[in-house]
This record gives sequence, structure tokens and C-alpha cells, in this order.
Amino acid sequence: MGFRILVAILVACCGAIAAGCATAQPAAEVPVVDGEQIYARDCLACHMGDGRGVPGMNPALVNSAWVAGSPDALAGFILTGGYGPDVLMARFDYLSDAELAALMSYIRAQFARIQEAPILPSLVEQMRNQLQ
Ligand code: HEC
Repeated sequence: MGFRILVAILVACCGAIAAGCATAQPAAEVPVVDGEQIYARDCLACHMGDGRGVPGMNPALVNSAWVAGSPDALAGFILTGGYGPDVLMARFDYLSDAELAALMSYIRAQFARIQEAPILPSLVEQMRNQLQ
């Protein structure tokens, strides 16, 4: 292989890497909401990493009708900490619409195997307004 061709290949590769960096830049500025991280921070201590909860104390999210059921009802449950006056779970209404949407998409995919259509922040916003 001639030296010139080698140089040409190197230049092309560096160009590709530089272009990759340039396009990656704007994406890094958008705050990424990671449902798994929110679960680890706010839910895992009681419902456990595998979603099986603590028998007799904290119910499992695996096979939970709330998790597998209507997204509206699930959003309401998490926002109010379980509806009802006898709140056994904390309210999570401090989570933003985007955070709760990402968290719901995560637990539905992880514990109810519902992979389609992620939950949109607008659904959470609507439920939040209805609950006020
Ligand atoms: C301090 C412990 C604790 C934490 C933290 C907690 N939960 Fe709970 N969770 C509970 C308890 C206790 C119940 C049962 C409440 C009831 O029946 O009213 C429950 C019930 C639920 C249910 C209904 C399950 C079923 O089928 O009965 C869902 C869904 C749920 N939690 C989701 C979450 C999510 C999502 C988070 C994180 C944002 C979270 N929980 C954080 C203790 C906790």
C-alpha cells in the first residue's frame, strides 16, 4: 500500500470520528431522563430491583394489575401514593411529567413486559391536572 493511500485512509477516518463527535454534541445537552435511574433512586428500596417487593410489607410490581393495567390509573397511583386517605406509600408528585413517564415506561417494560408505546409526559400531565 502506498504511503499516500495510507494517509488518505487516516484522514478519512479522523474525519469520520470528528463528524461523530460533532453530531453527538447537541444530544448531550438535552437532559436524558432515565426511568431505570429513577426507579433505583425512588422505588427500589421497597419494591426491589427485580420488582418482587418484600412479602408481607411491600407488594410486588411483577404481576401487579396496577403496573399492567391502565396507564392513567398507574400514573395516579404513583402521584398520590396509592389514592385513598390511608396512604401507605409516599406520594411521588415531585417527579416531573417526563420523569414519571420514563419511570412508568421502565416498570411496565421491566415488570409487565409491556414494550410497546412508551408513556408520554402529556399523559402524566393530564392525570396530574385531574387529581388537583
Ligand atoms: C417506602 C416504601 C415504598 C417506596 C419507596 C415505593 N413504594 Fe410502591 N408501594 C409501597 C407499599 C407499602 C404499597 C402498597 C400500598 C397500598 O396498597 O396502598 C405500594 C404499592 C405500589 C404499587 C401497587 C402495587 C399493587 O399491585 O398493589 C405500585 C404500582 C407501586 N407501589 C409503585 C411504586 C413506584 C413506581 C415507586 C417509586 C416511584 C414506589 N412504588 C415506591 C411501598 C413503597
